[in-house]
Amino acid sequence: MKNILIKNVNIVDAKKNICGDVLIKDGKIYSIKNIENIDENTKIIDGKGFTLLPSFIDMHTHLRDPGYTQKEDLETGQKAALKGGYTTLCAMANTDPVCDNKETIEYVLNKAKELDLCNIIQICAVTKNLEGKEIVNIDEMLSYTKLFSDDGKTIFDEDIMKKALAFSKDLDFKVLTHCQPEFKIVDRDLSLLEEVGGNLHICHISLKKTVERIKEAKNKGLKFTCEVTPHHIFKSDIEYKVNPSFRKKEDVSALIEGIKEGYIDVIGTDHAPHTKEDKENGSPGISLIEAAFSMVYKVFEENNISLNKLSQLMSYNPAQILNLNEGLIQEGYEANLVLVDLQEEYKIETKKFISKGKNNPFDEELVKGKVKLTIKNGKILHKDQ
Ligand code: DOR
Ligand code: ZN
Ligand code: ZN
Repeated sequence: MKNILIKNVNIVDAKKNICGDVLIKDGKIYSIKNIENIDENTKIIDGKGFTLLPSFIDMHTHLRDPGYTQKEDLETGQKAALKGGYTTLCAMANTDPVCDNKETIEYVLNKAKELDLCNIIQICAVTKNLEGKEIVNIDEMLSYTKLFSDDGKTIFDEDIMKKALAFSKDLDFKVLTHCQPEFKIVDRDLSLLEEVGGNLHICHISLKKTVERIKEAKNKGLKFTCEVTPHHIFKSDIEYKVNPSFRKKEDVSALIEGIKEGYIDVIGTDHAPHTKEDKENGSPGISLIEAAFSMVYKVFEENNISLNKLSQLMSYNPAQILNLNEGLIQEGYEANLVLVDLQEEYKIETKKFISKGKNNPFDEELVKGKVKLTIKNGKILHKDQ
């Protein structure tokens, strides 16, 4: 494998903002300084005018494989993700068959290995067939994943949720909760967490009231993480079917305040591709992984939120939560990086999406900040033309 040297680039992560060179060797970040002596086995990239960030980690992606490959499959979903600057994806379990058993998870992991694109972490369902009635064989599934979620469905049975949280504490895994109705279920889950402990991640929060409840719980010292999507901070009051719905202006402001004040841990895309027909028949969701960074950057810039913060929510915190040796541009870390042009403005064009899902209400919308190059373990896996 060729080494890569990125010269004279703005290096930004959650903890720094410097200008320099980055040398990548054997898939890892080898050094960050002004590097002069290089051998012929090194590809040089002129980074002048561009910004290098740790690549993005999505804790919430729907890849639809197996079973709904008319909406997306492991190849199109990962290629779309790479175009969006992502190299690690946590794939939700609402496939067909549901990812609640080892055969299905092995199918995904084997196919992902063959494709050799992103780092795929397959999430396992909490309950069998996402029915909310019977908890899966967690012991067995723990050899494949430490993430469990019934996303798409709410776990309404309080006893089941309580048990799942208690197990998550004893067996050291994470429960990602989809809350609908949002406030009621978030409130319940936080109360249960306080009662029994455990490892909880709250998916896609969208309401001012929820942000307030989360602030209260975190200020009390309760330990958990939470996520917002790019679309819930990008626009308010839109008629487009997605769960949770688009909210009001005051909700969007509360989410942005929550980000500024440090109460929101993660930006998760909830990339939810659908066919045209399924969308017309009412399927909720937005295909957006290719545009997620540009949407978030636009909102952050308009609200004076730093790129360090963006990197924290899109790379560093997810890496910490998932225990990955990445998310910072630091010697010895995985060379999972994304080169972006922060000046470039462009229009989202859904017809150009690699994703099979063209379901996105922001077609023709102007955004800022474009992914130019995505590098995973020292290999260039996407190049913008
Ligand atoms: O809008 C959504 N789409 N929200 C979900 O929770 C599920 C997702 C899907 O799977 O389509
Ligand atoms: Zn959800
Ligand atoms: Zn989802």
